Amino acid sequence: MLVGTVKEIKNHEYRVGLTPESAHELVAHGHTVLVETGAGAGIGATDEAYVAAGAQIVATAAEVFARAEMVVKVKEPQAVERAMLREGQILYTYLHLAPDPEQTADLVKSGAVCIAYETVTDASGGLPLLKPMSQVAGRMAIQAGATALEKAHGGRGVLLGGVPGVLPAKVAVIGGGVVGFNAAQMAAGLGADVTIIDRSPEVLERLSNHFESRAKTLYAGKANIAAAVAEADLVIGAVLVPGAAAPKLVTREMLATMKPGAVLVDVAIDQGGCFETSHATTHAEPTYVVDGVVHYCVANMPGGVARTSTYALNNVTLPHALAIANLGWKAALARNVHLANGLNVAFGKVTYEAVAKDLGYTYIPAADLIG
Ligand SMILES: NC(=O)c1ccc[n+]([C@@H]2O[C@H](COP(=O)([O-])OP(=O)(O)OC[C@H]3O[C@@H](n4cnc5c(N)ncnc54)[C@H](O)[C@@H]3O)[C@@H](O)[C@H]2O)c1
Repeated sequence: MLVGTVKEIKNHEYRVGLTPESAHELVAHGHTVLVETGAGAGIGATDEAYVAAGAQIVATAAEVFARAEMVVKVKEPQAVERAMLREGQILYTYLHLAPDPEQTADLVKSGAVCIAYETVTDASGGLPLLKPMSQVAGRMAIQAGATALEKAHGGRGVLLGGVPGVLPAKVAVIGGGVVGFNAAQMAAGLGADVTIIDRSPEVLERLSNHFESRAKTLYAGKANIAAAVAEADLVIGAVLVPGAAAPKLVTREMLATMKPGAVLVDVAIDQGGCFETSHATTHAEPTYVVDGVVHYCVANMPGGVARTSTYALNNVTLPHALAIANLGWKAALARNVHLANGLNVAFGKVTYEAVAKDLGYTYIPAADLIG
């Protein structure tokens, strides 16, 4: 198959759909890989690295879209990219269609076969192509929080792990899923005093068994959250109620009970945030202060570590890309129901039920098109 990748054009997006290593893997399976010049620049992958991997460099995204049978990207296609899609062409990338009627209409009109990373499932009911970005954000949350705790960044001047003779910082992680687990692991690894708060007894039991004495667990009752927040040097917001806005678990009143210079990192900001005083920030200006409490609310945290994020993403997207290239999309999806769950739009039909329902399209099950 002719597989192509382009330079991402969304503002401040530095990741790339295919690393040189992924290109090499596709070439080794007999496929041809087209790469827009400079596509890997954001992760330090040169055109030469892609050529060494066996890929062909082309001058423009237009050429990639015109020739490739499958385009592999990271972010949803922007309007100029959507205009270049054609019927039957495979688009494999994050799409997030439900809140985006304009994009959905363009993809329907294009006739392209659009497979969304975020709805591909796995045998345990998880979303394996979203998970690595939550792992990155969870780990980064502690780095970002540690930096914000430094005096020069507005924090109270506390080192997470303390030193011999001085107590470590108290870190409260609200939400013990993928983000929360990874944040807790980093904080515990640095020697901080970590408490993980969740409302699910199963999650609490799993975390308690995993961390043993390295982190405490606490049920997410209102009084428990208020007490943990008042004591904490650093609070990580990591809750998720799938498909819904994040619940506001830390209220403005609670800020008055916190230590001056304490830090809130709201990873759940992409779902509206779980602190009442959160609003989305950027890597250029990641923090602001409310009532003496430093807030870090960057909505695309993985973008800050584009290289790590790209490799983590490619680790999970490449096996499916290879299956699609080797078998063709119909056979690949027919063989793997989890990959079939990724099909959102194909040949003008909306094949993902939630998207069809939210945006008023007739839902056509993916199976009807796969045959
Ligand atoms: N800012 C970023 O760059 C970035 C990057 C990746 C993920 N995220 C976001 O981080 C959030 C967490 O993602 P995840 O992958 O860890 O989700 P997850 O589903 O793995 O975990 C969410 C956890 O929240 C818990 N929870 C739900 N409601 C709760 C409540 N009221 N009180 C306490 N706990 C509650 C759940 O039991 C679950 O354990 C999501 O909003 C996700 O979109 C943001």
